[in-house]
Amino acid sequence: MTRRWLVTGCSSGLGRALAGAAAEAGDLVVATARRPATMDDLADRYPGRLSALALDVCDTGQCEAAVAHAVDRFGGVDVLVNNAGSGLFGAVEEVSDDELRAQLEVLTVAPWRLTRLVLPLMRRQGFGHIINVSSIAGRIGLPGLSAYVAGKYALEGMSQALAAEVAPFGIRVHAVEPGGFATRYGTSLAEAAGRIPAYAQSTGDLEAGLRGMAANPDLTRPEVFAHHVLRLVASPTAPLRLPIGADAYAFLEAAEAAGTTELAAAHAFVQGSAERPGTDAAPVTPFPASGPAR
Ligand SMILES: NC(=O)c1ccc[n+]([C@@H]2O[C@H](COP(=O)([O-])OP(=O)(O)OC[C@H]3O[C@@H](n4cnc5c(N)ncnc54)[C@H](OP(=O)(O)O)[C@@H]3O)[C@@H](O)[C@H]2O)c1
Repeated sequence: MTRRWLVTGCSSGLGRALAGAAAEAGDLVVATARRPATMDDLADRYPGRLSALALDVCDTGQCEAAVAHAVDRFGGVDVLVNNAGSGLFGAVEEVSDDELRAQLEVLTVAPWRLTRLVLPLMRRQGFGHIINVSSIAGRIGLPGLSAYVAGKYALEGMSQALAAEVAPFGIRVHAVEPGGFATRYGTSLAEAAGRIPAYAQSTGDLEAGLRGMAANPDLTRPEVFAHHVLRLVASPTAPLRLPIGADAYAFLEAAEAAGTTELAAAHAFVQGSAERPGTDAAPVTPFPASGPAR
């Protein structure tokens, strides 16, 4: 079956790899990016199958135009991939209201808006996929990525609610959770304007690890992400939340264990038997002082 895709954030990294892989597989792709010239080579490689379009996901008018373009060009949208995203580095105390709003706009509000725009099409046709590119940071509260973590947690919550809302219409929803991938994510990571030196102690290791991601040969390649997302839309049994990357599983297993320990400690606390030794949940961080995790 030929699928019609609308993918955001295709100038580089995961979105670019996915748009290329879907077109290579014979599907029809509206690939979008703030700077459409970054996709010229993809459009040249897949004429008639890949349409490159300008889209800043924070611009409501451009979001509406992108969905209208997908309908005009390919007759509709079968798979929406909310991939566009960027990070803001800063502890809670360092992030201003405006910085937080901007981060939530790209990570949560924009995917929500695009989802709202494609759902009428998908409900009418009786099928479709919404794929929200979350992160392991959508399940682990990483110190120093406070606003980013908040945005991805919100995206995960929205995905879970949405999945139940649209299941009766034949629409499937997935939150894809990449671990560490070798992309420009860490290089283009913005920094809160009001940094406070004291926070280097609790956030410095993570920032150093993130900044080195693009050059880290041990991180997973974007093609692996694309491969699994193509499998996901072809599978009737894929789970709602899909971690991708070997390190993602290691982090999430550690987080699960910490969560079990925390639950036991909470239970003991409310039963009045708190202060048991050894029940403190250790924080889970993917980039220890020794460098990025594998
Ligand atoms: N790499 C990882 O390890 C990792 C891990 C977990 C989750 N993720 C998530 O994966 C997604 C893709 O990131 P990536 O790793 O591929 O990083 P990337 O190479 O930096 O790609 C990010 C893409 O998002 C685009 N983007 C940012 N703000 C946008 C906006 N307002 N409108 C439209 N496009 C916008 C960027 O466009 P410009 O070129 O115009 O900036 C770029 O195309 C993000 O949602 C990220 O949070 C990545």
